[in-house]
Amino acid sequence: MDKQYWTAERLNLPYDQWSKASVDQLKTKVRDSKWRLGYHIQPESGLLNDPNGFSYYNHQWHLFYQSFPFGPVHGLKSWAHLVSPDLIHWQDVHQPMIPDSSNDRNGCYSGSALPINDQLFLMYTGNIWDNGVRKAKQNGAFVNQDNQITKLAHPLIDQPSEGITGNFRDPQIIKHANYYYAIIGAQTDNRRGEILVYRSKYLDHGWYYYRKLDIGTNDLGYMVECPNLVFIDGRPVIIFCPQGMSHKHLKYANKYPNTYIVGKDFNWDKMKFINPSKIQQLDNGFESYATQAINAPDGRVLEVSWIGMPDLEEPDAEDGWTNALSLVRELSLDGEQLTQKPAAENKGLSDHELKSINGMEVPKQCLLDFAPTENKGSQFAITSGESHLLIDVDDDNNRLTLHRLNKNGNEEQRIINMDTAKVSDCQIYLDNSLFEIYINGGEKLMSGRVFFSHSVINATWIDCQAVELTQLKKLN
Ligand code: FRU
Repeated sequence: MDKQYWTAERLNLPYDQWSKASVDQLKTKVRDSKWRLGYHIQPESGLLNDPNGFSYYNHQWHLFYQSFPFGPVHGLKSWAHLVSPDLIHWQDVHQPMIPDSSNDRNGCYSGSALPINDQLFLMYTGNIWDNGVRKAKQNGAFVNQDNQITKLAHPLIDQPSEGITGNFRDPQIIKHANYYYAIIGAQTDNRRGEILVYRSKYLDHGWYYYRKLDIGTNDLGYMVECPNLVFIDGRPVIIFCPQGMSHKHLKYANKYPNTYIVGKDFNWDKMKFINPSKIQQLDNGFESYATQAINAPDGRVLEVSWIGMPDLEEPDAEDGWTNALSLVRELSLDGEQLTQKPAAENKGLSDHELKSINGMEVPKQCLLDFAPTENKGSQFAITSGESHLLIDVDDDNNRLTLHRLNKNGNEEQRIINMDTAKVSDCQIYLDNSLFEIYINGGEKLMSGRVFFSHSVINATWIDCQAVELTQLKKLN
């Protein structure tokens, strides 16, 4: 879309000033896009970014996302609202939370949800520009059983605590013992990233700054976005995006890292990780950010990620939409390593098995499963014209490399240094222009987008065994 079209005025136009006709026109254009996905959550029009408010309430799953429905750009943000009986069939309820109050006038930014009695409570950031200075309020809203959203008239946290800039956002609300806690991403006046903890005995008032979250490192770049604290087998795991973090402690190749730290135990009084691990990458692929994880009421720890990245323009934007969410994944711990595998419900995506032949054409929605032949230097490629995705398991150098060559000729790679002899299984979920690669059942994960140059896609391999191909359903 034409950059000049997106003036500051258009980016910030109140939602009720966009005509229905212009949105309908955009939706028609989007429906014709050749990059559309078959089983991932994608916007009906415009831009999607962070997952928000992931929860189970009123006998169904709820998932919101950051949305600008009027074009594929970061304009005035709202929360689109989806529900699902099974984590794979999602339906937009078309009752978004839009920025229509003085407490969120420049955007309903990211946040989380907590079921309270017969309502779902949302805690989110109200973004506010005040004479060119960013301010942030942490707000509350209730969702009723008809999915109607009612915002609280007053902010829960009116302004950041002493020494914190207006970059103060993305509250994760959790309940522990007698308190509600909010874990919030922040930036100090001297431009350091921090994770702050607020708490209150009451939901809709009484919030105060409690402490910094102590995760064992102060090197959190210049800003932390989207922190989430979950517990796996009683051990704390913090998932967060430390923007501008030095490469000293973590070698990441993406512009902004998506990371986690695991503790052996957690001290709630001090909000402190006991024996924290080193910081690690959540996803070794190209596009993955703002992951939201929850301790679900069924005992599982689930997460969903934005398959996108700030400051990135993808070819889908030419068709009036951009970005998507990942499959829902289940988390578990193996020592200090997170394992992320598709939640069991995703088995329901399988349609039927197809015969696998080296060089075969594969459907746009499919699951490819292969095992490298040990000590052989296996390669597995999905190709289309000049473009490709290629996984190279290099046993000589103990390195697994994912190469991506997009239709624009742009070639990039992401590398995992690991004991490649232990790579026993790679699963590639392909959904036209989006992929998720699970290595050894989710010990490592590589996600991203791929924009092939032709409509026919083939799979070829060298020294791979047990290659299986499953056609997946087209649900969208
Ligand atoms: C992360 C983020 C959040 C913010 C939201 C705005 O991608 O920048 O920090 O709340 O997106 O859309």
